[in-house]
Amino acid sequence: MTKQFPEGFLWGGATAANQFEGAWDADGRGPATSDTSRAVAPEERKTMGSEFTTPMNQKRLDFALNDKEGLYPKRWGSDFYHRYKEDIALYAEMGFKTFRLSIAWSRIFPKGDEKEPNEAGLAFYDKVFDELNKYGIEPLVTLSHYEFPIHLVKEYGGWKNRKVIDFFVHYAETVFKRYKDKVKYWLTFNEINIIGMTGYLSGGLLFEDGKLHLQDMYQAAHHQFIASALATKAAHEINPDVKVGCMLARMQAYPATCNPDDVMEEVRKDHENLFFSDVQVRGKYPSYAKRFFKENHIQLDIAEGDLEILEKFPVDFMSFSYYMSSLARKEVGKAATAGNLMLSEPNPYLKASDWGWQIDPVGLRITLNNLYDRYQIPLMVVENGLGALDKVEEDGSIHDQYRIDYLKSHVEQMYEAIEDGVDLMGYTWWGCTDLVSASTSEMSKRYGFVYVDADDKGQGTFNRSRKDSFYYYKELIASNGANVLNK
Ligand code: BG6
Repeated sequence: MTKQFPEGFLWGGATAANQFEGAWDADGRGPATSDTSRAVAPEERKTMGSEFTTPMNQKRLDFALNDKEGLYPKRWGSDFYHRYKEDIALYAEMGFKTFRLSIAWSRIFPKGDEKEPNEAGLAFYDKVFDELNKYGIEPLVTLSHYEFPIHLVKEYGGWKNRKVIDFFVHYAETVFKRYKDKVKYWLTFNEINIIGMTGYLSGGLLFEDGKLHLQDMYQAAHHQFIASALATKAAHEINPDVKVGCMLARMQAYPATCNPDDVMEEVRKDHENLFFSDVQVRGKYPSYAKRFFKENHIQLDIAEGDLEILEKFPVDFMSFSYYMSSLARKEVGKAATAGNLMLSEPNPYLKASDWGWQIDPVGLRITLNNLYDRYQIPLMVVENGLGALDKVEEDGSIHDQYRIDYLKSHVEQMYEAIEDGVDLMGYTWWGCTDLVSASTSEMSKRYGFVYVDADDKGQGTFNRSRKDSFYYYKELIASNGANVLNK
C-alpha cells in the first residue's frame, strides 16, 4: 500500500508581517514594537539574541524610535510588501495548499485605538489574498505575530490595560468583515505563551527596572485570552464557516534522568507551557494554575463575565510551532545550549543546528500525540524548520541538503502521528522564503526554500532564487508525501 498523507492535507509555508513585509512606514502604517528590534551584535549570534528577551523601558524605546544610525532589520524584512506577487507565484509553483502570513495591526489601525481603519492597509491585504486565491492557495492568517502598535504601548501600557481588549476586537472584526469571503483560517495570537519572555514585543509591556514581572505578564495574558475568545465569537458570527485557532510555542521537554524529581520537573515545565492552550482550548484556567499564582503572588484582575466568555468561545483548532526539544532537570546548572526561546542542556541523543537548536523529529510525533490526547481537537503544525547558513555557489545554486533532511525526518514523524490517530490538518514550514530572524534579527539565519539576496545589514538585490529544498518540497507536495514515505 502506498503511504500518503490524508487527502486535503494543508501543505504550505509560514511567515509573519514583522519579519517579512518590510515597508515599515509605507502607506500610513504606524510604528510597531518590532520596528525597534535592533540587529544583534556578532558576539550575541547563535543565541536567542538579547534584544528579543530584554525587558524594554521608555528610554530605550524612545531612543530606538529616533535612532537613524542603528540597524533595525525588521523594518525592511524581505520586502514582501512590494514582491508579494513574485513570492506567491513561487508558492504556487511549489504547489502550496495554504500560506500562513500575519496582518500588521498598525497597517490597519496605525495607532491601534482609532475608530476608522487605514484603507491603504486593508487594500494591501486584499491584493495579497486575491493573489493567493488566484492560485487556489488558502490563506492562514495570524492577527498578532510579535508586533503591537507603539501608541498602545505609550498611551495604555500594552496588554496589561483592559482597554486594549476592545481595540483588538475592533481590529479583528474589521478584518473579519473585510476578508469574509477570502480567508477561512485565522489564528489569534502567535505563540501566546511567549509573552512570558517577550513582554514588550508581543505584550507591549515596558519594565523600567529591567525585570519581567509575572503579575503584569499574566494579567496581559488574561486580557489576550479574553480578546481571543471575543474575536473567535465575532469571527463565527460574521462567517460561521471560518475556523479560528490558538497558537502555542510548543516546548517539548524530556526528564533528563529517571530520577522522579526530574520527571516532576518535566511535569512542571509542561504546565508552564500548556497553561496557555489549556485556557484557550478547554475554556477555563487549569487546576494547577491556582498554586502557581499563589506561590508567585499573582492576583489576576478577572472582570465579571470573563470566565463565561472563556468557556463559551474556545478555539476550533490548535496550532503550534515545533523546532526542537529540551531536557528537564530539577538541579539545573549543566551547560546550556541555545534553543528556540529556551535554554537546555544538550541531549546526547540529538544533533543541534548551527544555532544550537536540538533537532528532534521523534519529538514532533511525541508532541502531536500528547496534544491530541489532551485536547481531542484538530491540530496544525504552523511552524517547523531549520535556520541555517546557506552557501550560494558560483552558478547561483544552493545545495541545502541539511534542510531537506530536516524536512524529510519531520514529515515522516508527522505521518506516524497521523497513523497513531492524531487529527492533523496541515503543516506550514517556517520562513518558506528567507526572512529576518525573530530572535536575533539576522538575515543569515535562513529557513527558506526560496533564497533572498540580502545580508544582515539589508544590503543586496533582494532577488529571489530557488534552493534545492524548493524542488524537494514541490515533489513532496505533488505526491502528498508519497515520495518521502515510500522510499
Ligand atoms: C517562532 C516565531 O518562535 O520561531 C517566529 O513564531 C520565528 O516568528 C521562529 O521567526 C524562528 O525563530 P528565529 O528566532 O530563528 O527567527
